[in-house]
Amino acid sequence: MRPTPRCSGRSAASETGAGRVPAGAAGANMPGMASSFGLSVAPMMERTDRHFRYLMRLVSPNARLYTEMITSQALLKGDARRLLAFDAAEHPVAIQLGGSDPAALESAARLAADAGYDEVNLNVGCPSGRVQAGDFGAKLMLDPGRVADCVAALRGAVDLPVTVKTRIGVDEHDDYEILRGFTARIVEAGAAVLIVHARKAWLKGLSPKQNREIPPLDYPRVYRLKRDFGELPIVINGGFTTERHVLDQIGKVDGVMLGRSAYHDPMLIGRLDRRLCGSAGPAEADVIGRYAAYMRSELSHGTPLKAMSRHLVGLFANRPGARRWRRCLSGLSPAPEGIDELLAALASMPTGTRYNAGFTGDAAPSSPRGMCL
Ligand SMILES: Cc1cc2nc3c(=O)[nH]c(=O)nc-3n(C[C@H](O)[C@H](O)[C@H](O)COP(=O)(O)O)c2cc1C
Repeated sequence: MRPTPRCSGRSAASETGAGRVPAGAAGANMPGMASSFGLSVAPMMERTDRHFRYLMRLVSPNARLYTEMITSQALLKGDARRLLAFDAAEHPVAIQLGGSDPAALESAARLAADAGYDEVNLNVGCPSGRVQAGDFGAKLMLDPGRVADCVAALRGAVDLPVTVKTRIGVDEHDDYEILRGFTARIVEAGAAVLIVHARKAWLKGLSPKQNREIPPLDYPRVYRLKRDFGELPIVINGGFTTERHVLDQIGKVDGVMLGRSAYHDPMLIGRLDRRLCGSAGPAEADVIGRYAAYMRSELSHGTPLKAMSRHLVGLFANRPGARRWRRCLSGLSPAPEGIDELLAALASMPTGTRYNAGFTGDAAPSSPRGMCL
């Protein structure tokens, strides 16, 4: 399945001169938008594997998709072929790298570029103990010089947009001026886009999950950063769960990245794509039918059914029959019967509702810049 790009426009990266955006990435642009970064699905370990990304692409022709974080070491010493695998339908698709050794990142980025990725993103936001022990992730916010070296190395290695995903601060280092200084360094080094999870991270005392929930969200800080770095495309992330909330970002930032809400309610991304980009949204039945075809094809290559069916759990989120759907998924027989059970369960679901179901907000406000976001 190769989705038909419905929107067109120039890429942010080419506008800033910070990197070439290949044809696949350009397809994600939204009408009148300055960037192809308007709507994206966040990198999430154990969530945004290639199967979930494929599902996302069925739901949304335009959202930019991110891999789970892959460390440079894993790519260089592990099964790179497996780690880099993705379906051509996924474009535009970005790889998120974890690491802090410029030379290793450089080599990893080359592998990613050769594999056909559209963007290389550096993780500067993960606070997990393991990641801290490896000297990368959120901890790097304390060392902007090192991040700048990494960005410069990545820029030198690949002809792709190099982007950074970060927090608004770590520990007590959470003054706005620190974030501003950090941003200036990475822009100077050649970062094309900054993605900001709008809460700080505590490096000690909180689990990664708590670090996604306890530090308060501070959107105004991200808006301020956008005002100070007008030329730099800035994508806001953290806590977006409704269409209204996402649409309210128009004119304040250049894009919105959704993580947990995209996973728990995949059709939300489709509804947003439709609102922002005018794409026609397929019904859930179409999505499942096409995903079933994908699963059959993957099964023939040895992929376990559960590795794919598990991502369907949120498809009927907040809808009648959601519980029955989840029960069906957890009790599926092994393939190929499991796929037939899934399709039979689908036939008994109240489907046919199209993407715009559930949207209760006003029409999308138009931004002064005439952008979608
Ligand atoms: C299960 C899970 C895994 C995550 N893994 C990553 C990751 O690999 N890299 C990353 O930058 N952020 C990761 N995150 C953080 C998300 O990308 C995002 O920044 C965070 O969830 C806030 O956005 P949200 O409120 O829309 O979920 C992860 C989040 C979750 C829930």
